Amino acid sequence: MKQLELLRDDLAQCDEILLNTLLMRNRIVERIMEYKENNDMAIIQPDQEKKQRAWLDKALSDKKHAGEIKRVFEAVLNSSKKIQARQLFDYNIVLIGFMGTGKSTISSYLNNVFNMEIVEMDQIIAQREGMSISDIFEIHGEEYFRDKETELLIEMQDKKNVVVSCGGGVPMRERNHPEMKKNGKVVLLTASPAEILERLKDDHSRPLLENNKTVDFVTDLMEKRRSRYEAVADIIINTDGKTKLDICEELIQKLLADN
Ligand code: S3P
Repeated sequence: MKQLELLRDDLAQCDEILLNTLLMRNRIVERIMEYKENNDMAIIQPDQEKKQRAWLDKALSDKKHAGEIKRVFEAVLNSSKKIQARQLFDYNIVLIGFMGTGKSTISSYLNNVFNMEIVEMDQIIAQREGMSISDIFEIHGEEYFRDKETELLIEMQDKKNVVVSCGGGVPMRERNHPEMKKNGKVVLLTASPAEILERLKDDHSRPLLENNKTVDFVTDLMEKRRSRYEAVADIIINTDGKTKLDICEELIQKLLADN
């Protein structure tokens, strides 16, 4: 019995060391972010994560319970990403833009880099309705779909630090504009019609583009939408020819400057 108590005391000491180490680590994560911001440095530095992972793999190569420990470090890394994201933005990021401007791609990159929750509006509406967007348009009509979008925008206002990836038509309803602004900052992604067609050439999930995949059609629809998109946007990012990393870094820097 005595021995068991001693072992438990040892374990409690380990937990205390772990706890204090995590507190110290989180503080360092915050200071790194402060340093990057104060010195106008790139916020996303993917090579650093690669270095940390390589170090961990090496350090664990001959250790017992390597898999379990790796999972713990994975959780630590994810929590650091969240801490960084919260330090950068204490609001939701609302991504808008024409079909194919990269809203989903950029959301999932932000999820990767900052472990931010993503709300992919189209996907959530399709899930809740139990059918594809094309079927919703066909069975219930576009107006019904647009109502679902407005409801979801309002629902998301209770959240913080989430990336809301809007369907391309969301800004077309003027009454969605204040609902978008109440979420946080609105980021407009743009791309040229040619690049949009190239990105969506094999996609069949957008009813508005099916049988309309021409530069003339996209240019025309884009022009009709442009003023609504620009009216609600806090910042605008052209995505032509840029990598995901370039776009996200530009997004962060512009949001920081817009504060
Ligand atoms: C639409 C864009 C689509 C989807 C629906 C209608 C639009 O979303 O909501 O097909 O009106 O522009 P993406 O912009 O994600 O393609």
